[in-house]
Amino acid sequence: MILILGSTGYIGWNIASELAKARKSFLEMPRWRVDYYDSEKLSQLILSNNIKTIINSTGFVPDSFCAKNKEDKEECYTANIEFPTNLARVCCLLNVKLIHVSDAGIFNGNQKLYTEEDHPNRCDEDLNYYYFCKYLAETRVSAFLPSNHYILRCYLPFSNEHKEKNLISKVLKQDSILTCNTSATRLDDFTRAILHFVNTEQQAGVYNVVNSGFFSRSLIVEEFKRNNKEVDKQYSFYDNENDFKMIGQKDSSYCTIDNKKLIDTGFEMPDVQDAIKSCIKSFKMT
Ligand SMILES: NC(=O)c1ccc[n+]([C@@H]2O[C@H](COP(=O)([O-])OP(=O)(O)OC[C@H]3O[C@@H](n4cnc5c(N)ncnc54)[C@H](OP(=O)(O)O)[C@@H]3O)[C@@H](O)[C@H]2O)c1
Repeated sequence: MILILGSTGYIGWNIASELAKARKSFLEMPRWRVDYYDSEKLSQLILSNNIKTIINSTGFVPDSFCAKNKEDKEECYTANIEFPTNLARVCCLLNVKLIHVSDAGIFNGNQKLYTEEDHPNRCDEDLNYYYFCKYLAETRVSAFLPSNHYILRCYLPFSNEHKEKNLISKVLKQDSILTCNTSATRLDDFTRAILHFVNTEQQAGVYNVVNSGFFSRSLIVEEFKRNNKEVDKQYSFYDNENDFKMIGQKDSSYCTIDNKKLIDTGFEMPDVQDAIKSCIKSFKMT
């Protein structure tokens, strides 16, 4: 049996829907039903339901991915470090496979393709507390479960449904768009990757789960226009991050990430530009 934690969230909901479509037996456990911060209760839940795999898509994602105030920092620490560490400890004791959702936004920039071997360059404890927590959790989960964990990094998730957290919706909402090349992850492909790690035995460790290739956010606007979808404003495009910040725009994340380690497990990952075009073609505004 599979246990999914975080299925009330953007990513977790998609995973639960796909597991249901694939007719997999799974248990969803929102935190209001069981206090899974309590190791005793978590262990009982695992044992009484014969759980062999846990998918952890819980997490606290603060606005703009920055936890600036004290409350946000505390929740970021609890949700993104303390809980995954405790979960890994319990999985280790009970020999449960753990698939933990992480964030490739720990990297910044497109001067190279970042691999799983690279040290993150966007995890400063003061400047990027959310990413700092996500990376620290990766190291702790790996230490507890050296042979039974899969850390899957998602980046700028997008889909064909208009949602606050969908990259496509976010871009359309902006007036000014940074056009630096970047990687991103189609949500359906991320969920397929989760199922791939549920169904097959792979080498434990961290995997970058992004679509192949890279794109510029301007593609999103162009494709909307090309498909005669309503785009009711003029956008300004910036190809230089400093100019973009000078006009008071918030940091717009971009980085190019290598997915070869994932592809080498036999997983097929579509090209990101094709994935974006396909999502926009079938985009649902409501
Ligand atoms: N969104 C992105 O752009 C993005 C990109 C890459 C990776 N990720 C990672 O993907 C995971 C899910 O993100 P999401 O965008 O789906 O987030 P989300 O929509 O905010 O959902 C978060 C989920 O985690 C639960 N949760 C929130 N605070 C918690 C806490 N303190 N303790 C335990 N559970 C808590 C929520 O449960 P309740 O309903 O009970 O609040 C919800 O089920 C996170 O680990 C995030 O770091 C997200």
